[in-house]
Amino acid sequence: MSQQFDVAVIGAGPGGYVAAIRAAQLGFKVACIDDFIGKDGTPALGGTCLNVGCIPSKALLQSSEHFHALNHDFAEHGITVKGASFDVAKMIERKDGIVKKLTGGIGMLLKKNKIEPFFGRASFADNSADGWIIDVAGTEPKRIIARNVIIATGSSPRPLPGVTIDNITILDNAGALDQAVLPKRLGIIGAGVIGLEMGSVWRRLGTEVTVLEALPDFLAATDRQIAKEALRTLTKDTGLDIHLGVEIGKITSGKEVIVAYKEGGEAKTLTVDKLIVSIGRVPHTAGLGAERIGLAVDARGFITVDDDCRTNLPGIWAIGDVVRGPMLAHKASEEGVAVAERIAGQKPHIDLGLVPFVVYTNPEIAWVGKTEEQLQAAGIAYRKGTASFLANGRALGLGQAKGTVKILADKNTDRILGVHMIGPMVSELISEAVVAMEFKASSEDLARIIHAHPSLSEVVHEAALAVDGRPLHG
Ligand code: FAD
Ligand code: NAI
Repeated sequence: MSQQFDVAVIGAGPGGYVAAIRAAQLGFKVACIDDFIGKDGTPALGGTCLNVGCIPSKALLQSSEHFHALNHDFAEHGITVKGASFDVAKMIERKDGIVKKLTGGIGMLLKKNKIEPFFGRASFADNSADGWIIDVAGTEPKRIIARNVIIATGSSPRPLPGVTIDNITILDNAGALDQAVLPKRLGIIGAGVIGLEMGSVWRRLGTEVTVLEALPDFLAATDRQIAKEALRTLTKDTGLDIHLGVEIGKITSGKEVIVAYKEGGEAKTLTVDKLIVSIGRVPHTAGLGAERIGLAVDARGFITVDDDCRTNLPGIWAIGDVVRGPMLAHKASEEGVAVAERIAGQKPHIDLGLVPFVVYTNPEIAWVGKTEEQLQAAGIAYRKGTASFLANGRALGLGQAKGTVKILADKNTDRILGVHMIGPMVSELISEAVVAMEFKASSEDLARIIHAHPSLSEVVHEAALAVDGRPLHG
């Protein structure tokens, strides 16, 4: 017996569940299928982001930041606490509680929107006059037929050849987020977003953290000026021991992990208690049956889509980490909304050039649009304005007066082309830049907008004024 739907969404991460809700809002009969099993052994909606990604990592970052502030920053406020201790298991329990609350909330949202959830792995069986036939494996196998299918199957950790993740000693993102005992020495392969965020968590709690990165450039996709400042503060203030341009050799693991590597041509070894492998993520299409129906996948394993997320097959769409573009939750969600609206005949538009990026280290790093290096390579003439958090009253009050905001604007039209930040709460400040750029604002527009005083956003205002060489406080 099969069930007929207008739209079947495969995957209930931030791409899939959002697509399902928007499709239901538009009046479609919607199914949402997901195979993620949570820590308690039961199905958990929300995908990588809610279960083992964005949300748990930010929960741990906050707990560890409080402990770090208590030990390092409170004294200047006149607060001294003797004998402060940290309960790692309690931190993990809090994180699990937040995950449970949010993943349970997705279940309620699906119910509220009359979306039928299916738990199990979905695979394409065939096409029919009534639509695409999808089988859902599980204790009670089910068959679904839908005229429109949105694939949102996400991504999984990129494996390092010859290394087995056991999530006891050698960890991927799931293991890195679930250590109930503080490791004394932690190694991290890959100084990307996961490496820096997870490295910060464990370093702030007292672990010795060594990060081994293959590329000679730190945070290679980031504006060089900001990346340089980030490397300096993460090394000096956070205490991460970051090695760039290394070549990883043999990794052996027993009671401890020994990583052989080459740095500047010299053979070295790193001995640690735990090792996180965070060298990027790969699109997840395993078990989907893509080949059975002739769904096109590119050489790197991403489902091939056009600008509107249409695949090569009629009625099948793909969004989020499993297609080209940044692997970010908000990008996946926006694609989900847009595809549901396209199925309904609307004409939404997404500009992948305006997806904001944030690294939740301390200080945070955030950017949107082009870097100086990209503008130079493209031969685009620009003016730049920079402003520092050093003299910002709100940042000084917070005790976080470090960092920079840089605005890049077209030399001829003054249109803002890129905004780059490192500093306190720039994860929030970047939204102003995204809004401005979506509205095709000039730096003069930002410079003439009233910003509250005292606020961190005044640094963005100063940077906009600086583009025209008229900063008031710089
Ligand atoms: P996913 O969230 O991966 O969801 C896909 C779902 O589909 C999963 O539940 C999977 O089990 C299921 N699935 C796969 N195949 C099938 C199948 N055949 N049948 C049924 N179900 C299937 N992004 C940010 O924007 N901000 C952050 O702060 C951030 N932090 C992160 C921290 C970490 C540690 C990690 C690993 C990632 C982080 N990300 C962050 C990235 C973010 O998690 C992803 O970009 C996002 O989850 C992608 O959403 P998605 O819906 O495409 O896929
Ligand atoms: P990443 O792409 O950010 O970084 C991987 C790093 O590993 C790169 O610097 C790369 O040069 C390096 N590397 C690759 N192979 C290597 C090797 N053999 N030896 C040493 N270094 C090697 O990937 P990461 O950190 O795994 O995260 C995956 C994705 O998850 C991110 O790209 C991002 O899309 C998402 N994410 C987003 C977050 C956020 O938005 N705050 C937080 C965490 C993850």
